[in-house]
This record gives sequence, structure tokens and C-alpha cells, in this order.
Amino acid sequence: MKKYSEPQLPSTPLDLSQLDADPFAQFHIWFKGARNRNFPMPHAMSLATSAANGVTTLRTVLLKDYDQTGFIFFTNYGSRKSQQIEENPNVSLLFPWISIGQQIIIVGTASKVSRKESLEYFKSRPRGSQIGAWTSNQSRTIESRKSLEETFALTENRFKHSDIPLPDFWGGYRVIPDSIEFWQNRADRLHDRFLYKKSGQKKWEINRLSP
Ligand SMILES: Cc1cc2nc3c(=O)[nH]c(=O)nc-3n(C[C@H](O)[C@H](O)[C@H](O)COP(=O)(O)O)c2cc1C
Repeated sequence: MKKYSEPQLPSTPLDLSQLDADPFAQFHIWFKGARNRNFPMPHAMSLATSAANGVTTLRTVLLKDYDQTGFIFFTNYGSRKSQQIEENPNVSLLFPWISIGQQIIIVGTASKVSRKESLEYFKSRPRGSQIGAWTSNQSRTIESRKSLEETFALTENRFKHSDIPLPDFWGGYRVIPDSIEFWQNRADRLHDRFLYKKSGQKKWEINRLSP
């Protein structure tokens, strides 16, 4: 088997005493820290979804907001991921911050955000992305790149005298966590892992996991 050399990753001790009792506050600390480090797109996260028949798929989406209510991303409501979420709201998110030796894994349930929240975000997007949202029948087979570009041009023309409205097939999902794991790289594979698990309304239990 081919062996790949592994770079030295940052290794910073992480102890229970350093953690905030609230996983959202802890996420905020780590997210802010990641944004201050020089690596691209710390808000890019893997989203795993499973259909009712157990078929499981993964893809990258962008975290657009988070607070005490959950973690928000936006997508096409007709896409494969959305169909799977509608069948089975159990999802997982993973932030792969390998270059800084950190990983966060969230397990929870996804539900649509309000249309008002989707509209607010949609309005903040560049016009080209708004037209792109109308153009893409996300996850469906298409004939060619040309047909996609033609649909884009038609959509551009259709709305040339107006703002681009929010498509009713496009919007956000909020992932409400049941657990959040913070993983910190350490030497000799003795990584530090802490799992926050919901143990009642707004109550979280924190346990150290074996690496
Ligand atoms: C860096 C990056 C960011 C992405 N962000 C999003 C996003 O926020 N929303 C989205 O629907 N797709 C996003 N995509 C595309 C998805 O990975 C995926 O191709 C698409 O959503 C269709 O997935 P599905 O067929 O499983 O539904 C992104 C891809 C990359 C590489």
C-alpha cells in the first residue's frame, strides 16, 4: 500500500477546564480562532444526509450563520440533500480544519428556516448568485453546460427590470445539534476530544473521549 507522508499539525493541549459550559459559546471561540488563522474558508463544512432507505451522501456547504438556535446553510430545496433531509432530518456537519489541527463534528436535526430568514440572506447575495439560484435545478441531470448558460441568460432577461425575487424552491436549513465534538490534534495520536451532549433543555453534559 502506498504510504503518504504526514505533516506535523499544530498540537495544542485542550483540557476540560478550558472549555465553555455552553457548546455554542465554545464553537464561537473556535470559529473566531479559525477565522483569524490564514487558511481558506473555515466556514466550509461537510454535510452528511441519509435517505429513508439508509443511502447516505456527503457534500460541502457553507455555514452562513450560527447562534444558540443552530447552524444555518442555504441550498436548493429540490436538491438531493434536501430530499434526503425531508425524508430523514438526522444530519451531521463536519468542519475539517486540518491545517490548524482541529475538527468539529455536529450531529443533529435539520429543518427549514423561515422564508423571512431566507429572503433576508437571498437579498444580500450578488445578483449573479441570485440568478444562479433560479437557473440551477440542483442535483438534476442536464444536457450540457450550454443549456445551463442559456437558462441563465433567459432568467437574466426575465428579471431585467426588477430585483430578483426569492425562488420558492430555495432557502436555508437550520441544524439543531444534539451533540458537538471538539477535536484537537496531539502528538502520538493522543488527541484531545470533548463531546457535548444535550442532557435536557439547554443543559449539556461534557465528556472526554478516547482518541
Ligand atoms: C466550497 C464549497 C461550498 C459550497 N457551498 C454550498 C452551499 O452553501 N450550498 C449548496 O447548496 N451547495 C454548496 N456547494 C455545492 C455542494 O457541495 C453540492 O455540489 C450541491 O449542493 C449539490 O449537492 P446534493 O446533490 O447532494 O444536494 C458547495 C461546494 C463547495 C466545494
